[in-house]
Amino acid sequence: MKPIGTPLTPHATRVMLLGSGELGKEVLIALQRLGVETIAVDRYDNAPGQQVAHHARTIAMSDPAALRELIEAERPDLVVPEIEAIATPVLEALEAEGVVRVIPTARAARLTMDREGIRRLAAETLGLPTSPYRFCDSLAELQAAIDGQDRKPGIGYPCVVKPVMSSSGKGQSKIDSPADVQAAWDHAMAGGRVGPGRVIVEGFIDFDYEITQLTVRAMGANGEVETHFCDPIGHVQVSGDYVESWQPHAMHPKALARSREIARAVTDDLGRGLTGHPAGLGLFGVELFVKGEQVWFSEVSPRPHDTGMVTMATQWQNEFELHARAILGLPVDTTLKTPGASAVIYGGVDAEGIVFDGVADALRVPHSEIRLFGKPESFVKRRMGVALVRDADVDVARAQAKLAASRVKPRAA
Ligand SMILES: Nc1ncnc2c1ncn2[C@@H]1O[C@H](COP(=O)(O)OP(=O)(O)OP(=O)(O)O)[C@@H](O)[C@H]1O
Ligand SMILES: [Mg+2]
Repeated sequence: MKPIGTPLTPHATRVMLLGSGELGKEVLIALQRLGVETIAVDRYDNAPGQQVAHHARTIAMSDPAALRELIEAERPDLVVPEIEAIATPVLEALEAEGVVRVIPTARAARLTMDREGIRRLAAETLGLPTSPYRFCDSLAELQAAIDGQDRKPGIGYPCVVKPVMSSSGKGQSKIDSPADVQAAWDHAMAGGRVGPGRVIVEGFIDFDYEITQLTVRAMGANGEVETHFCDPIGHVQVSGDYVESWQPHAMHPKALARSREIARAVTDDLGRGLTGHPAGLGLFGVELFVKGEQVWFSEVSPRPHDTGMVTMATQWQNEFELHARAILGLPVDTTLKTPGASAVIYGGVDAEGIVFDGVADALRVPHSEIRLFGKPESFVKRRMGVALVRDADVDVARAQAKLAASRVKPRAA
């Protein structure tokens, strides 16, 4: 990586974020602090990250022609995917042509954009433990996958159905009995990202708890990529969407060691560059299910993770700063500063340009912080902000973060 230049001059270090929501916004702020010139791209105007970047561009990032045109026009030093719904074959082509470096690699962006790529890599190529699973293209195939056929054992009940292209729990449901199959299929078809399509059906894992293992691939002093681990983050998901998280999550040492082995295996593979290209750098959010000493890989984001917002309160370098430093080839420090927790603030209303009552009351909760993302439009279940609380006792932090979040009352203006 060439030395960092001065923004808005010919020697600027220019980084393009593909996706500029609340996570992208924090990465952009971290990059700005390091003197990087930033280009925030999203599919709608005034996205959170566009409000804090040098340049804002609005395009359909899933449109291959539009994406190629923008990258060729801007020629950033790095392209940083912040969402999954991107025309990733274009990124692979541009990376192979030597036009851009994609973070961590274009291959990682492609493999993680749908559930099939990453699941087959983790389970079939790397041999990591996952829930049992099958991919299905019709209701009949789904029923057969659950029941079993051709002497293949079925997934059975209970199980979970998800569109292969979806995030934040969209289109996802649990099936407890044959009576639920049709409704789960219909829900998946309505909630997928690219219209009717394929689903994954997974055996339901009766885990004790789930964690996000933030894992950073950063350049070491000797020019070799080093892997760093953050303390495990515990979280609660409602309908497949994160509502609260905390760090650290206490774990049996064997389960922690196993989690990190899995995280290392996945990130080593996803960080592998094309021959002759630099290895992939950056932060990953590895999602794991834990029962006793047993650990299952669930999925991975090759970028900061929503449950990792807690690190804005708990780490010396939060996950966004870690990502910014790692992708620029700079050293990282994943040390915990204090235990703490985060709780999501939902919109609660469908309206544009909403206002937030109760922020002062929320901030009267001891050791709290509030982040409002500045999204131009609110939906009842859209994440509009987050409350962060630090406390030596994680349980206290969780309760206080939920209290602070509940005091913020979004309403139509
Ligand atoms: N096989 C499973 N067994 C038990 N619980 C599951 C299973 N799959 C998913 N879940 C639950 O649903 C949550 C969301 O699932 P998953 O992470 O696959 O979906 P997602 O849409 O990618 O969510 P996000 O984008 O928020 O990470 C998990 O964190 C877990 O709580
Ligand atoms: Mg997930």
